[in-house]
Amino acid sequence: MKVGIAGYGVVGKTRHASIQKNTSYKVVAISEINLKAQRDIPSDIDIFDDYHDLISKGEIDIIFISLPNKFASDAVSLSLKNGLHVFCEKPPAKTLDELIKVQKIYKKCSNLKLMYGFNHRFHLSVEEAKTIIDSNSFGKIINLKGVYGKSQMISFNQTDWRTKREESGGGILLDQGIHMLDLIRYLSGESFSQIFSFIDNAFWNFDVEDNAYVLMKSANGVVAQLHSSATQWRHMFNLEITLQQGSLVLGGLLTGSKSYGDETLKIISSNPKKDKGVPMETTSEYYQDVSWDNEIKYFSNRLENNLIIERGSIDDAIETMRLVEKIYKADPLWKKKYYS
Ligand SMILES: NC(=O)c1ccc[n+]([C@@H]2O[C@H](COP(=O)([O-])OP(=O)(O)OC[C@H]3O[C@@H](n4cnc5c(N)ncnc54)[C@H](O)[C@@H]3O)[C@@H](O)[C@H]2O)c1
Repeated sequence: MKVGIAGYGVVGKTRHASIQKNTSYKVVAISEINLKAQRDIPSDIDIFDDYHDLISKGEIDIIFISLPNKFASDAVSLSLKNGLHVFCEKPPAKTLDELIKVQKIYKKCSNLKLMYGFNHRFHLSVEEAKTIIDSNSFGKIINLKGVYGKSQMISFNQTDWRTKREESGGGILLDQGIHMLDLIRYLSGESFSQIFSFIDNAFWNFDVEDNAYVLMKSANGVVAQLHSSATQWRHMFNLEITLQQGSLVLGGLLTGSKSYGDETLKIISSNPKKDKGVPMETTSEYYQDVSWDNEIKYFSNRLENNLIIERGSIDDAIETMRLVEKIYKADPLWKKKYYS
């Protein structure tokens, strides 16, 4: 299978390395508009300036889309129309409406695979937590409390489109918090219908949010809290899942920046009458971020064996985007400013 990559920035390069390492696919063409970034493309690969040309003229079977958010839905739609299998980064679109249009197109492409890159699902700590939850050994979930935050809107070597609503569609919640929302949905299996939120852009003063404070409840009574932040001076990833007979704490996450702390899963087994609030705990620690590699392996396995995409499907993407938009609109002031 021949692969094209649209957008050769931070993630385009990461995907390239991971495709080479984990699949038999050959990356034959890359589209990149920035001349400086083009210089990083190996000489045996065809270069197109724009993703439209890659899609229409590149001789490829699969496309990896790692463009700024404003192009995601257009690039996916065109690729599907051109008969390409597609792997697209999160967020799947700027808005839910854009993504619903993609879904309509995809419904006519039953022979093609479409997967969205929610790589956090493939972290080893998350996979272990999912196995424990699904085993029902601690009973049902009562609540989930998550914090995911970084200290700036644009960190490390990122480009600045993330701070512009026109180009990104949203701020820290759409960029980073979306991973935590996806995990909350994935791990709990719940659909959250009652939502309260405060959305703020008061600190960095861009036209996208720098903080989202969220409280939500599912029809089954599961409550989830999330604080997605770009004023988290010490970078943090923490998700506590409380079940009937214990809790799981995902603390820290191995990422490229190595700034979110060691990746651990604390397993707390509770017996309130005996342990009087000091329960038994064990902690698993993980030493490698295998999420990017395992996500690509998953995609290629699903593609080669013609299996349904179950992690990062278009339906997942739609439901997570629906949640993002409900959260934005749950704050009356934010809704008035950007959705009326
Ligand atoms: N899964 C994750 O954890 C994760 C992490 C970071 C970013 N992402 C997502 O990946 C996507 C890309 O993010 P990034 O950090 O690599 O951004 P980036 O800005 O570093 O890279 C995007 C690249 O696309 C190029 N580009 C812009 N317009 C183009 C066009 N018309 N044709 C071809 N190339 C064009 C830019 O020049 C740039 O090099 C975003 O959607 C982002 O949200 C996902």
